Amino acid sequence: DGVTVTELRDLAVRLATAAGALVREGRPERVEVAATKSSEVDPVTVMDRASEDLLREMIAAERPDDAVLGEEGDDLPGTSGLTWVLDPIDGTVNYLYGVASWAVSVAVVAGPPEPASWTVLAGCVHSVADGRTWSAGLGEGATRDGVPVHVGAPASLSTSLVGTGFGYDAGRRREQAAVLARVLPEIRDIRRLGSAAIDLCLLADGSLDLYYERGLNPWDMAAGVVVATEAGAVVTGLRGRPAGNAMTVAGPAGLVGQLARILEEVDADGAGGVDHG
Ligand code: IPD
Repeated sequence: DGVTVTELRDLAVRLATAAGALVREGRPERVEVAATKSSEVDPVTVMDRASEDLLREMIAAERPDDAVLGEEGDDLPGTSGLTWVLDPIDGTVNYLYGVASWAVSVAVVAGPPEPASWTVLAGCVHSVADGRTWSAGLGEGATRDGVPVHVGAPASLSTSLVGTGFGYDAGRRREQAAVLARVLPEIRDIRRLGSAAIDLCLLADGSLDLYYERGLNPWDMAAGVVVATEAGAVVTGLRGRPAGNAMTVAGPAGLVGQLARILEEVDADGAGGVDHG
């Protein structure tokens, strides 16, 4: 329909900012009240849903032919070939505890909304607690609060600050802990900040040198991927596979391969290369 990347990016920013304001106002004061995200009616789930509902209403009003894929709602089909990929609160545990690292993540992709086959056209990650906003459009570069950002140039793996994250499943966490035990002695230090979307943006502006995580969903990564790649990062999986749920490794070209090789050695994506017999 002739929409430009710039227009899509502007809309992503407006969407993320509006949902961020809603969710900031609604944040429960006390953790005891909020309980955990285990019940269908806890306040975090309620705010997740409210944020996603607002995003979907705004998209329906401005881009009625686009599809929507969101963490909290049913997939909405579309006819335009574009899909909005929404994480209404990325970093829900931080949101629950009042730790500043949580975001609304909004991206728009062309093609099937899966990391292996999509082209992310534009995205915005709005870190609500501190008001920082990263955005990018394909071919336009990436910015934080309007200022262009670029990945850092760490000299070596041993001087690299590496971000990662863990899933919620205990079995998966045991595997992730074993991978971390292999990675940690090779790097400057590790950060588990609690929002994959923000992690990818911190990588984009050089606040982290590298990032890896197994188990990401499309909505955790879509906006962060376009911000990171437009800032000069390579974002990939292991053994030449694309980034995605099995593994996402991101960083400057020179170092991403070094980290990927260590992750491959320990079969960090669980996708083979090691015979577990
Ligand atoms: C989670 C965060 C976290 C990452 C998890 C995600 P959520 O998203 O991005 O940093 O380690 O893999 O599921 O549940 O807060 O939207």
